[in-house]
Amino acid sequence: MTKILSHKQREQLIRGARKAMKNAYAPYSQFRVGAALLTAKGEIFLGCNVENASYGVTNCAERTAIFSAVAQAGPKLNIRAIAVVNDQNVPCSPCGACRQVIYEFGPAATVIFKSSKGWKETPIAELLPEGFRLK
Ligand code: THU
Repeated sequence: MTKILSHKQREQLIRGARKAMKNAYAPYSQFRVGAALLTAKGEIFLGCNVENASYGVTNCAERTAIFSAVAQAGPKLNIRAIAVVNDQNVPCSPCGACRQVIYEFGPAATVIFKSSKGWKETPIAELLPEGFRLK
């Protein structure tokens, strides 16, 4: 299943994430984030962060993309890769909650993000060792 991403697919995901980022609702942090995921079937779904006055219920871009994919295409989601970008072009890897949600739908997924050493493509299992599974 986990074929390495082509250059074209990677660029397509980063472009999609940048497009989604423009819809971010981030009046509190002013930190706009976009995510784009590629499914095993080759579909792409986008998401952005959606903040709230009750800060803790904010939804990150990655989870928005995943929940949107399930809402649109159903529960048999298999994430092959997910890219995340932000409007400040600073290092930003998925938060712990998003790592667990990515793992749920793509235990072999590749995560594309900007680290302090530049762009990285890292397996989710490396970002979330021993991720939780019920089955
Ligand atoms: N955020 C994301 O959307 N994804 C990440 O990977 C990191 C953080 C959002 C949540 C919040 O709206 C803002 O960035 C600042 O934490």
